Amino acid sequence: MSILKTIRTPLQNMFLRVEKGFDKAFGPEWNPMRQLGTLAFYMFFVAAITGIILYIFFETSVEHAYESVEQLTHDQWWFGGVMRSLHRYSSDAMVLTMGLHLFREWSFDRYRGVRWYAWFTGVPVIWLLYVSGLSGYWLVWDELAQYVAVGSMEWFDFLGIFGEPIANNFLAEGSLTDRFFTLLVFTHIFAPLFLLFMMWIHVLRVTQAKMNPPRGLAIGSLIALTVLSLVYPAISHKEANLDVIPTDLALDWYYMAFYPLYDYFGAGAMWGFAIGGSVLLSILPWIPRMKEEPAPVVTLDKCNGCRRCYDDCPYGAITMMPRSDGAPYEQEAVVDPSLCTRCGICVGSCPTSSPFRSAEELVTGIDLVHISLKDMRLQIDEAIKTSKNGIVLIGCDHGQNVEAVEESSAVRLPCVSQLPPSFVDYMISNGARGVMVAGCPECGCRFRYGVEWMQDRLEGRRDPYLRKRVPRDRLKTLWASPLDVELLQETVQTFDADLNNIEKEDS
Ligand code: HEM
Ligand code: SF4
Ligand code: SF4
Repeated sequence: MSILKTIRTPLQNMFLRVEKGFDKAFGPEWNPMRQLGTLAFYMFFVAAITGIILYIFFETSVEHAYESVEQLTHDQWWFGGVMRSLHRYSSDAMVLTMGLHLFREWSFDRYRGVRWYAWFTGVPVIWLLYVSGLSGYWLVWDELAQYVAVGSMEWFDFLGIFGEPIANNFLAEGSLTDRFFTLLVFTHIFAPLFLLFMMWIHVLRVTQAKMNPPRGLAIGSLIALTVLSLVYPAISHKEANLDVIPTDLALDWYYMAFYPLYDYFGAGAMWGFAIGGSVLLSILPWIPRMKEEPAPVVTLDKCNGCRRCYDDCPYGAITMMPRSDGAPYEQEAVVDPSLCTRCGICVGSCPTSSPFRSAEELVTGIDLVHISLKDMRLQIDEAIKTSKNGIVLIGCDHGQNVEAVEESSAVRLPCVSQLPPSFVDYMISNGARGVMVAGCPECGCRFRYGVEWMQDRLEGRRDPYLRKRVPRDRLKTLWASPLDVELLQETVQTFDADLNNIEKEDS
């Protein structure tokens, strides 16, 4: 096992365990662990809206800033105070959700190969989030603001790029001018705008990127933050006094954990840590580089330009181009290997991916090279022959442990959605007693939409449909975590018993 895998596996198991617990509590759709990116987006908008409200009441001067925030917090606690707390807690929640999102993508190895782009553009997002959050703390102009502002300015002065040290603006009481304070206010307005821009760049290459959490989760988290704001409102420290070094401070650890380290190690070490850490994080997708299988191939003889693969590809790797072979169709599918994750979802969507042909004719419009339609049928034929209970399990490379079920035979695909529904028909027509599709939990597909598209295809909501003639009681689906080994075993046993009953009734 590689060192990387040794570190990643326990983290992955930890995430899976937490996700399983949340599945029980919230159900798969509202599971916050599978909505970390959308939650971070949502928290940004909560912070943006509450920030605009706060700005209406805020005095942009050194002398009155503190007072205006105090008035808002205490005299108008029921509205202004709640807005302030919501602003703070949603910003903290952004750091939390972003951090978990980063670790989750890393631990599930969803950052290498074509995903490098989202990872790489995520790194400046971290910087911009920190600049946005920390500059917000300055505006209160209390002792915490003083500590953070002075520390930050000294840190920048270490670089020696400003003619006069900017920390000089904080030398003594009275040295901070309204002009400089206004600059700080602008930082807190422009940094979030850049952050939003960078967040947009971050998801630019993700097709139909989900940026909004499900409504229930959005409302629930807003209620939770509001309750937190009422029970534990955000308050200020004493007013800043540049003649005194503040000592008794309650740091916001989400944003300020680096400041005690800075006090201890000094500016040089912290620059080394920040720059070194960012560079290392940025190049992580290439150490080591992901070994990639060849991208899917389009066989024009079989492609009628129906666009289904284009509609279903979760990574926008397929483009419909004008026909190049003179065939009487308007378009043809073209794959961009640099965007393709090799999930095979397009193979499952192609209407020509039919198993009801001779082996020589088993060519489809779009096919994976490393596990082609032909390979898939061979494996399935073998599974039908060898399954002790006549059930064939279709699993994926990243999900449930389908091999653990000894009585059945399993076929693993990159994603269960690579299986065209006609293969279910084929399996049942060719001697399988039952077919069980054992995929990842809902909203938990490694390839984003694999589970959703497969459910839609099997339930007749999305082309290509499962034909009506297929007896539905011979098909079972289980969307569960790789940790749900017992559930998988139990479901197969129940399915087997159900099949026995059907067979008894039929005979
Ligand atoms: C405020 C911060 C962030 C927000 C709001 C955010 C949001 C998102 C969203 C909405 C997606 C697309 C999810 C989907 O529709 O499948 C995504 C994907 C991704 N994010 Fe972030 N993200 C943030 C920070 C980061 C950071 C710091 C990193 C790592 C350095 C990162 C790494 C990734 C990766 C690798 C993916 C791609 C997953 C895939 O292609 O399957 N993100 N992010
Ligand atoms: S294999 Fe997956 S990512 Fe690649 S083209 Fe097909 S659907 Fe898109
Ligand atoms: S789904 Fe198949 S037939 Fe339709 S455009 Fe894609 S490759 Fe061509």
